[in-house]
Amino acid sequence: MTTTKDTYIVQEGAVLDRREFFTKLGLGSLGVAAAGTLAFYYQYLSPNVLFEPSPIVNAGAIDRYPLGSVTLDVNSAIYLVHIARGYFSLSAICTHLGCMTAWKPELNMIACPCHGSRFNREGQKLAGPAPRPLPWLKTWLSDEGELMVDRSITIPQFQFLRV
Ligand code: FES
Repeated sequence: MTTTKDTYIVQEGAVLDRREFFTKLGLGSLGVAAAGTLAFYYQYLSPNVLFEPSPIVNAGAIDRYPLGSVTLDVNSAIYLVHIARGYFSLSAICTHLGCMTAWKPELNMIACPCHGSRFNREGQKLAGPAPRPLPWLKTWLSDEGELMVDRSITIPQFQFLRV
């Protein structure tokens, strides 16, 4: 098949002249631009919601925490502590720059691995750059006898849960 200067062959058996070719090319470009615009507006108009886990933690049966224990729940970043005065929970997040602390039973203290802050088991600062003690968290006993902690509510220090 021969072609003139202004004729384009798109596929075998179909011949487009220059005007048809550029019309279809333009319409295709507009379609791509319209699809991109629709995708942008769909994303813009969709609710921007974060699905965060509940701040309330069920720490399980109270007898899991014997007298003298300091238990770190890594998933919730809280300590559950049982001393003679009662139960309480602490945030395990260092008040300096937010590192996860760790209980060191051999030193009888909570230590931050990042910059060396140290806290006693009541969360009071012993050493290091941390500006505040570890926050105490609202702790209560459920009707089923399980320790519950609300990580979103801090309470004054030394408010023990007595059972
Ligand atoms: S983050 Fe804990 S001491 Fe810096």
